Amino acid sequence: MPNDFADDVRRGLTAARKFLLPQYFYDALGSALFNAICELPEYYVTRAETEILNAHAAEIAEAFQPPVRLVELGSGSGRKTRILIEALLERQPELEYAPLDIDPHILDLSARELTNTYERLRVTPLVGDFHDPANALSGSANRTIVLFLGSTIGNLDPDEAASLLTNVRGALRSGDALFLGADLRKPLDVLIPAYDDPLGVTAAFNKNVLVRINRELGANFDLAQFLHRATWDENLGRIEMHLVSRIAQRVHIATLGIDVDFAEGESIHTENSHKYDEASLRDLATRGGFNVTKSWMDSRGWFADLLLTVP
Ligand code: SAH
Ligand code: TRP
Repeated sequence: MPNDFADDVRRGLTAARKFLLPQYFYDALGSALFNAICELPEYYVTRAETEILNAHAAEIAEAFQPPVRLVELGSGSGRKTRILIEALLERQPELEYAPLDIDPHILDLSARELTNTYERLRVTPLVGDFHDPANALSGSANRTIVLFLGSTIGNLDPDEAASLLTNVRGALRSGDALFLGADLRKPLDVLIPAYDDPLGVTAAFNKNVLVRINRELGANFDLAQFLHRATWDENLGRIEMHLVSRIAQRVHIATLGIDVDFAEGESIHTENSHKYDEASLRDLATRGGFNVTKSWMDSRGWFADLLLTVP
C-alpha cells in the first residue's frame, strides 16, 4: 500500500495536468474531516440520504426473504447504515455485516461502535479497495445486499462506475441486490457551497492530501500557498475539486527524489463528484447488468437511492 501511494503520487504530480487519486484523502485525519463535512449545513448529501433511509428502511428490509447479510463498500463511519441494520435485525435473529474501507482507522472505529451497540450483529471489517470487491463479496450462504452509499459512485467517471457495478454484479448471485446512493443535478447555488463551505472544512479535507504527502513521502508542500477550488463542469455534469498554486513554486518530494514545479494558478485535480439524473442512473444500472427494482428520493428531490437487483 505505501508503495502504491508513492507510485501514484509520482504519476499524478509528473503528469502534464497534475492530479491525485481520491482514495488518498482518507487517512485518520481525512476520515475525521469527512465526518465533519457530513455535519456542515451546506453539505446536504448525508442528511438527504438519511431522510430516505429513515422513511423506507422497513420497506427495503421487507423486499428480502431473511436471512440476508450486508456488505458495504466505502463504509466510513457507518452512521447511516445503522438505520438499515436496525430494520434488518427486526426481521432476523442475527446479521452479518462486512464493511470494506480503504482507511483502517475509520473501519476499526465504526466496527467497535457497531459491535458495542448491536449484540446480534456480527461485524467482519475488511481493509481494501472497492474497485476490487470480490473478496468482500465471497463466502456467505445468505442472500447479499451490497450498500454503496453517499454518492461515492459519483467520485468515479461514468465508465469506471459502470465497470465497478459489473464487478459487483459478477460476484453476486440471482436474488442479491445493490443498494446505491447517487447525488442528483441541482442548482449551483446549492451545489457549490456543498463542496466549498464558508467554514473551510472541505478546503481542509482537500489540502489534507498534501499534509499526507509531506508526512509520508518527505515533501515540503507549503499549505498556505495552495487554494481549495470547487467548480462545476456542465458538459461532464460534475463538480471538480482542485488545489490551486497561488504562486510559481517548486516542491521537493524526498522519498520520490523529485522536484515538482508549479506555475502561478496551476492546479492539482484531486476529485470529481458526478451528479446524476434518472436517465443516467438507469443507464448506469443497465450497463452494470442490474435491474432497477425500486428507487426513492428525498423530499427536495436532491438525492436518490436505488434498489438494484440481479436478475
Ligand atoms: N459511506 C459513507 C462514507 C462516504 S466517504 C457515507 O455515505 O457517508 C467515502 C468512503 O469510502 C470513505 O470512508 C473512504 O475511506 C472510502 N474509500 C474511498 N476510496 C476508496 C476505495 N478506493 N476503496 C475502499 N474505500 C474507499
Ligand atoms: N462522495 C462525496 C461526494 O462526492 C465525497 C466528498 C464530499 C468529497 N465532499 C468532498 C470529496 C470534498 C472531495 C472533496 O459528495
